[in-house]
Amino acid sequence: MSRKISIQDAVNGYVDKKAPVLFFVLSRKGEIVSANQYAKDLTGLSTTGQNFSDVIVDFSNEFDPAAAAGDPSIERMLTVGVNNASPRTFYFSFEPCEDQILVFGRQDTDELETMRKEVLSLNREQGSLMRQLHKANAKLNKSLSDLRQAQAKLVESEKMASLGRLVAGFAHEINTPIGIALTASSSIAEASHQIEQMLMQEEVEEDDLISTLETIRDASRLVFSNLNRSADLVGSFKRTSMEQSVEELFLYSLNDTIKDVLTSMKMTIKNTSIKAVFDSHETINLYGNPGDIFQVVSNLFENSVRHGFDNGTLEGLIFIEIQKENDNVLIHYSDTGKGMSAEVAERVFEPFYTTVRARGGTGLGMYICHNIVTSRLKGTIECKSTQEKGTKFILTFPVTKETIHETDPIKK
Ligand SMILES: Nc1ncnc2c1ncn2[C@@H]1O[C@H](COP(=O)(O)OP(=O)(O)OP(=O)(O)O)[C@@H](O)[C@H]1O
Ligand SMILES: [Mg+2]
Repeated sequence: MSRKISIQDAVNGYVDKKAPVLFFVLSRKGEIVSANQYAKDLTGLSTTGQNFSDVIVDFSNEFDPAAAAGDPSIERMLTVGVNNASPRTFYFSFEPCEDQILVFGRQDTDELETMRKEVLSLNREQGSLMRQLHKANAKLNKSLSDLRQAQAKLVESEKMASLGRLVAGFAHEINTPIGIALTASSSIAEASHQIEQMLMQEEVEEDDLISTLETIRDASRLVFSNLNRSADLVGSFKRTSMEQSVEELFLYSLNDTIKDVLTSMKMTIKNTSIKAVFDSHETINLYGNPGDIFQVVSNLFENSVRHGFDNGTLEGLIFIEIQKENDNVLIHYSDTGKGMSAEVAERVFEPFYTTVRARGGTGLGMYICHNIVTSRLKGTIECKSTQEKGTKFILTFPVTKETIHETDPIKK
């Protein structure tokens, strides 16, 4: 092939600047005299005068372009160092031209095809990975919403269970006064029958009559006081069960609500050596739903008995105190039970965290308390506990805007 164009022309124009072909003009010693734009861009060549070996990354020390130019018909596969990317392999031919060597490097079409296939297969793989990821994501979202639903149901059923315990507590409490009233009323019936008998006799001993009448009077007193106690309990039960199920807000007495908790919990600590004391020297009236306080305090109480006092087998004291500080109400709740390790104290409010899962604990009690105090009462609940030294909870929440007017009737 005759070369009519100058080498410089070839470098600058003959080989398309954008064509993926490398073109170098080398001195016989292998120094780069000139290179096309594509070669410069690809290899990052800035100045000429570099050795051709410098752009080749394999056997660069041994490669001799002059020797290669001895047989221009042979193409050599060489790998070129690429600016900011992985090296690439080209097929080079070396042709002597006067006292210089022309070097042409073309990309291997097979290699391009392999790369194309690789890219395609990577693409396909990525597509299938994306699909798998989408599926996994959808599954995860579904599990998450199932979990949320289950959690909501559990929270609801925990509320129902606490309502159930409340009913059982009151039913038990009311049993005693009703039982006493029943016995006393039957002794009234008996005494009146005795009086009837006496009146049917010809002579009645005055002392007998007086003593029987005294029996009737004492028994009536018992009936009266015990029915009164029952009426109080029914009132308190009506109030708390209604408060637990109704969302209504009204003015209520914090003192009465805490007393109601203790009444409903009496059965739980009967036959144990646990004492519960409520220091109610300060009277606090609040606006809101007393069912919230009822549920929080009864959960704390149940936990003290169950965890702090080992299901009531240990002796100790549960102490509740209330206090008003500026616009905040503080409830100090403490037990002298077993206390918690640092880890338990830290995780006590986490949903589903329980140390007694095997014995039926769901780990929702304190989570519900935390929820009620933070989202409904807009306050905080803090747990302070040391192993073997008891547990303390401090609840702080603001008195709501609907300031309490002394004239407002307290709901009974
Ligand atoms: N007063 C306490 N004394 C010692 N440990 C306590 C006390 N209160 C709570 N804990 C610990 O905190 C954990 C979480 O209490 P939480 O009330 O949330 O769940 P639980 O009582 O285990 O189960 P449940 O959902 O039935 O109430 C308990 O398992 C227990 O280890
Ligand atoms: Mg609990």
